[in-house]
Amino acid sequence: MKPVIVRSIAEMQKISRQQIGKIGFVPTMGYLHDGHLSLVKEAKKRSDIVVVSIYVNPAQFGPSEDLSNYPRDLNRDVDLLADLRVNYIFFPSNEEMYPDNYKTWVSVEDLTDVLCGKSRPNHFRGVTTIVTKLMNIVNPDFMFMGEKDFQQLAVLKQMGNDLNFPTEIIGCPLIREEDGLAMSSRNKYLSEEQHKQALALNKSLILAQKLFSSGIDNSEIIIERMRKLIEHTDGKIDYIEIVDPDSLQSIDKLFKGCRVLLAVYIGKTRLIDNIEITD
Ligand code: PAF
Repeated sequence: MKPVIVRSIAEMQKISRQQIGKIGFVPTMGYLHDGHLSLVKEAKKRSDIVVVSIYVNPAQFGPSEDLSNYPRDLNRDVDLLADLRVNYIFFPSNEEMYPDNYKTWVSVEDLTDVLCGKSRPNHFRGVTTIVTKLMNIVNPDFMFMGEKDFQQLAVLKQMGNDLNFPTEIIGCPLIREEDGLAMSSRNKYLSEEQHKQALALNKSLILAQKLFSSGIDNSEIIIERMRKLIEHTDGKIDYIEIVDPDSLQSIDKLFKGCRVLLAVYIGKTRLIDNIEITD
């Protein structure tokens, strides 16, 4: 059975209020890939009703970013979600989410000033605002988010705690293509040649893990080796950082459980990826 597509906030809130069972929620911007579908599968396992939102949120795109070109294909998304027996798709318009007199923004301090926050000012303010609105509309028991956007997950968990949201935010593992490229709707922008070049992101993260496992724990040395590997391609590095997974602050020495994150432009496409350092 196809999921019910709900376009109005009032209707979605009414449906949520009427549910007796647990609501699992997966917020997305659509153009779904296996990474999103893994979140939906996890939501299905843990909840009675699953709601997926599809909304390309203008407030999280900068003026020179890819909002108008962002890939969209509602029919394809609906079919994929029908296969997974999703109950509801919340698919609002911009007018519904940000009416003319809209004035309220939610922002999280510190965690949003680092990593992607440095080169995408206001991006996280857009994310925290829309997710606050979505949680108030869908009223979920659980919200499922991918670790691919590790900083986003950390920021939203902080917001959930600080603002006492009743929703449990559950981080799920990053999903990769068979060749190692982290799944992203933006991979669609890559030519075949750029896709090959983009594999350097994952390779550099694997290198970081190998260097740590061989006894090197100095961040500067590891970042330099990663930089060299990526600079062999046409990739332009936005950042490579090794951070404490809770504070997202850079660390000088790696430890088990720390996180290596990077953002690299392949042509005009900005890709992000990360890895947790293990033994
Ligand atoms: O990760 C995303 O796709 C978006 O940032 C989100 C969480 C759906 C908010 O627009």
